[in-house]
Amino acid sequence: MSMITKCLFPAAGYGTRFLPATKSMPKEMLPVVDKPLIQYGVEEAMEAGMYNVGIVTGRGKRALADHFDVSYELEHQISGTSKEGLLTDIRRIINDCTFSYTRQSEMKGLGHAILTGETLIGREPFGVILADDLCVGEDKGVLSQMAEIYAKYRCCIVAIEEVPREEVHKYGVIAGSELEDGVYVVSNMVEKPDPDDAPSNLAIIGRYILTPDIFDVIRETPPGRNGEVQITDALQTQATRNMVLAYRFKGQRFDCGSVEGFVGATNHFFERWREAQSA
Ligand code: UTP
Repeated sequence: MSMITKCLFPAAGYGTRFLPATKSMPKEMLPVVDKPLIQYGVEEAMEAGMYNVGIVTGRGKRALADHFDVSYELEHQISGTSKEGLLTDIRRIINDCTFSYTRQSEMKGLGHAILTGETLIGREPFGVILADDLCVGEDKGVLSQMAEIYAKYRCCIVAIEEVPREEVHKYGVIAGSELEDGVYVVSNMVEKPDPDDAPSNLAIIGRYILTPDIFDVIRETPPGRNGEVQITDALQTQATRNMVLAYRFKGQRFDCGSVEGFVGATNHFFERWREAQSA
């Protein structure tokens, strides 16, 4: 049984890199093959034992709440037909999870979005999934891998991946010393550094495990890069007071907030879909 039961999904961003698709539709609802990004994220949280799902939404994001609710008309329409099987997974999610929502009324950054979610989390450790980073774990999901590390060290953990130097400016980047295979104690972290100033090429991706004291740290974190309250800045403070770990996860990540990553994910999951059809 997992010690962490809650997972927060910051999903209030505008998704400007994916316009015009995201003009009236949340980017988390973009489908990879036949499933929206947010559902892949919720399935990963469930696999890690986190059945209590909190979603930070914004204006124009109602489709997210509708997706995780029963659609009586639809149920009625397809009941007893061959298409019923297509709803099996989402029915199970609706049954097994509890969903709660809060709105971030101004887009003041990921740190601010996480702070907005405090009301859904309370004083417990929690997972964070940015659903536009679609992760495929090697043996188990990335959040499951991180929950195991949390059980051992009980501190904030960020997932990292090696990226080419010329891409570090898109990410939070860490410096640290390796504690065990793939687990680093963070000594420094910088949001979207210039390649010349980057402490490494270990980039933070959209999976975190956070302890609730992070909310107090975010509250005292001034806006940083792009005038936004950055979770990276709050975690940098946390790293000086307490331990923060970075974990090089086993698996693959697709940045579905970008067209290239989204198409990569679609190709990957289409192969799996085709295998399942022919099985
Ligand atoms: P991104 O910067 O990748 O997402 O934020 P975005 O702003 O939606 O997309 P672009 O860059 O305009 O295309 C990372 C994550 O943090 C959330 C986003 O929803 C995304 O999941 N976020 C970001 C918030 O919830 N609120 C914010 O104020 C900022």
